[in-house]
Amino acid sequence: MKIMITGSNGQVGSELNVRARTMGFDVIAVDCDQLDITQRDAVNDFISRYSPDLVINAAAYTAVDKAEEEVAIAFAVNRDGPLYLANACAERDIPLFHISTDYVFDGEKEAPYTESDQPNPQGVYGQSKLEGELAVASALVQQITLRVAWVFGATGANFVRTMLRLGGERAELGVVADQYGGPTYAGDIAETLLMLAEKVDRGDALQWGLYHYIGSPATSWHGFAEEIFKQAVSHGMFEKAPNVNRITTEEYPTPAVRPKNSVLDSQRINKILGFAQPDWHQGLDRVLREWKNK
Ligand SMILES: NC(=O)c1ccc[n+]([C@@H]2O[C@H](COP(=O)([O-])OP(=O)(O)OC[C@H]3O[C@@H](n4cnc5c(N)ncnc54)[C@H](OP(=O)(O)O)[C@@H]3O)[C@@H](O)[C@H]2O)c1
Repeated sequence: MKIMITGSNGQVGSELNVRARTMGFDVIAVDCDQLDITQRDAVNDFISRYSPDLVINAAAYTAVDKAEEEVAIAFAVNRDGPLYLANACAERDIPLFHISTDYVFDGEKEAPYTESDQPNPQGVYGQSKLEGELAVASALVQQITLRVAWVFGATGANFVRTMLRLGGERAELGVVADQYGGPTYAGDIAETLLMLAEKVDRGDALQWGLYHYIGSPATSWHGFAEEIFKQAVSHGMFEKAPNVNRITTEEYPTPAVRPKNSVLDSQRINKILGFAQPDWHQGLDRVLREWKNK
């Protein structure tokens, strides 16, 4: 099976690229410099030329705060690009896997969000991702949109990298303790999408549509930070962890409003895959080992 991966230098894209090859798929991996998904004709030409059996879109504009200013770019990459990919796939009967975000929700719910909960994004990034989801769903039936959250991996910028940098500079840090979500290892997201790809390849009946997927257990950014430093100390990357103080969202104002609760209920995908989603502590351990051994 030939899989085309967009955004292949990103956190999830790079894990998809490596793992898909290891699993024996024929892979066409492209990032912005080879295929800018906001260029409709280029998207059409590329898919015509390479005729993949499945497209996985890991390309996105992910700078949540910067998106408040770069509105046009955020919508071009997160809404228009996915629409062009979806239209090109629909014309050729190719399934599309797309990735979206917990930030489509306002965070007011006091329980994990399910796929049937009403989105209500609070910022440009969330709105652009929601419109991307809707564009994909309206363009083709054979699509899976996987909403994920708080992504971290060995590649690119993420919360883990930021914490390690700040922890090296300061003895004391304040980290937001009143926003809850699910840290999610990029490698686990890639693995999940590729298991679904195997199902498509085998011709298994697959329920198309929207799925939630986050790492377990849910925590706050503060809880995530504490575990990062605990593991970094045990890996010998830090002699002593900094003091990680709990602060509120109000004490750490950001241009984009974040949901207080963006925990996603992953039961629907768990049923399809036949197991519960992995513990993010293990993904964190893998990332830290990789960085330590570099
Ligand atoms: N990161 C998170 O915490 C998070 C949370 C929830 C959901 N998600 C979703 O998960 C998915 C993967 O995220 P990620 O963290 O892997 O993102 P990422 O590391 O920012 O990677 C995105 C990739 O897309 C590329 N890209 C940007 N604009 C493009 C364009 N016009 N055409 C082609 N490629 C383009 C980027 O290239 P450049 O670097 O050169 O711009 C980058 O390589 C996205 O759909 C994202 O919305 C992420």
